[in-house]
Amino acid sequence: MRKIRKAVFPVAGLGTRFLPATKANPKEMLPVVDKPLIQYAAEEAVAAGMDVLVFITGRNKRSIPDHFDKAYELESELERRNKHALLEIARNVLPSHVTCVYIRQSEALGLGHAVLCAKPVIETGEPFAVILADDLIDGGRESCMEQMVRVHAETGCGLIGVEEVPREEVSAYGIIEGTRRNDRLWDIRGLVEKPPVEHAPSNMGIVGRYILDYAVFEHLERAEAGSGGEIQLTDAMAAQIVAGQPMCAYEFEGRRYDCGSKLGYLEANVEYGLKHPELADAFRDYLRGLAGSL
Ligand code: G1P
Repeated sequence: MRKIRKAVFPVAGLGTRFLPATKANPKEMLPVVDKPLIQYAAEEAVAAGMDVLVFITGRNKRSIPDHFDKAYELESELERRNKHALLEIARNVLPSHVTCVYIRQSEALGLGHAVLCAKPVIETGEPFAVILADDLIDGGRESCMEQMVRVHAETGCGLIGVEEVPREEVSAYGIIEGTRRNDRLWDIRGLVEKPPVEHAPSNMGIVGRYILDYAVFEHLERAEAGSGGEIQLTDAMAAQIVAGQPMCAYEFEGRRYDCGSKLGYLEANVEYGLKHPELADAFRDYLRGLAGSL
């Protein structure tokens, strides 16, 4: 089984749901406690063994390459002030063996189009991961992508991360139609992007974690605008399955925070705050007091 070395991060979206915070800053740079969403996503990929991170960027995204780059002025200033712990944090945003590649998606034509922009850096036949940073997943002991890399190695099957979503929310997700193979794995028969609730084949929603075959590019190249007038990754994967290249869905272990929504983002901040080594105790006390007064 070929090792998965590359992770693709589509980060060209406009992030309109978080305006005005996202007027000049990408939504992927919004912090959960003290770390931007995109760094959690990059760390998840690195923990899963990936060493080439491919960011598909767009307008107003310059702070993402800056974040993963060396910050000479900041580092020398921290060094001068003997702030060693902070210096380590600023320096170790990514381990040194990791390479970042930036590809600019000049038109926001949808998630499928963003993934297609990564084609020049993926070799023929090479499987690769896609991570959507606004789905923040706390996998506990094993991150979601680590679980998926392991299951991919066991099954050899292209994988889509899924979780059960409330029936009334199916129209906000890609939805799978499939047969359960075991506790966590499904064989997929079909996929539909954001179906109306009455046409949804299930309530198993796609979350922003994928392990894709190179073959998906062929279907992305042919894909026409789908839901929302955009080139959809879900449609290309559905075409791939129809073409006889099977994919599986994987129900990950852990908790997902939908940081594309304000409520999910606040929940993530509260829960990560409660686990933060510096903050946990004081923050718990604060929340207890607050809950008492609500
Ligand atoms: C994208 C995908 C959708 C998936 C969702 C998960 O939609 O197109 O299939 O369920 O991510 O977050 P978006 O939320 O970007 O509209």
